Amino acid sequence: MTARTLHYPLWGDPESGHVATRPFAGAREVLPVFGDGKPAVWRWSAPLVDSRPGDLVCRTVKGKLGDRVDIYQRDWLHPGRRKKLRTIWLAEEIGSTDTAVAELKEIVGHVFESPKPTGLVRRVLDCFPNDAHVLDFFAGSGTTAHAVALANADDGGERRSVSVNIPEPTRPGSNAHGAGLLAVSDITQARLRAVAQRFGETLEVIVHEPASELS
Ligand SMILES: C[S@@+](CC[C@H](N)C(=O)[O-])C[C@H]1O[C@@H](n2cnc3c(N)ncnc32)[C@H](O)[C@@H]1O
Repeated sequence: MTARTLHYPLWGDPESGHVATRPFAGAREVLPVFGDGKPAVWRWSAPLVDSRPGDLVCRTVKGKLGDRVDIYQRDWLHPGRRKKLRTIWLAEEIGSTDTAVAELKEIVGHVFESPKPTGLVRRVLDCFPNDAHVLDFFAGSGTTAHAVALANADDGGERRSVSVNIPEPTRPGSNAHGAGLLAVSDITQARLRAVAQRFGETLEVIVHEPASELS
C-alpha cells in the first residue's frame, strides 16, 4: 500500500448504486481491494467522494474469489460501463519501454530511444468515444497514431488522429541517423506511413519549413 490515508471504508448500496463516506440505510461497508482480495487504495480522497457522490456507483461484481460489492467511477460517456478506480497501470497490462521498442522495431526499426507502448495510449483511448479526434503535439515515434489505428482495427471505430513533431535533428551515430532519418519528424512520418499501409488508414503528411529563427 502506498497511501495509507486512501485506504478507508466507503459505504455503498449495490441495489440503488448509491455511495457515501458514512453509513446509510441499506449500505454495506466497502474497503478498497485488488482482484485477489489484497488491500488496495481508493483513487479519490473522502472529501472528493463527498463532493462528487453522483460520479460513483456501487455494484455487485463477480471476482476471482466469488461475488463481491465494489465501487466504480460512473462512466457518463458510456451508460452502463463501469470504470474501476485504479491508479496503477501495470506494465503487464499496457506494456513498457521494452515492449514499445519491440513494437517500433517490428514496424519501422529501432530508431527511437524512448517510445511509449501503444497499450498505454490505448488505455487512454478507452476513456473516449470510438470516433474521437486525437491530437498529439509531441508525437515522437508516432505511438499515438499507431495506437489509434490498432484501436480502430479492433473495434471498428472511426477515431482520427493528428500527429505533430518539430524537425528536431537526430543524433549523428544514432540508429535513426544511420537509417537516413535525419529529423525526429522523419521518424514520425516513417512509422505512420508503415501504419497506414498496414491498416489501410488514410495518411496526409503536411511539412512546414521551420521558422527562420529555429533553423
Ligand atoms: C518524449 S518525445 C514523445 C515520445 C512519444 N510519446 C513516443 O511514444 O514516441 C517528445 C517529442 O516532442 C518533440 N518536440 C519537442 N518540442 C516540440 C515542439 N515545440 N513541437 C512539436 N514537437 C516537439 C520532440 O522532438 C520529441 O520527439
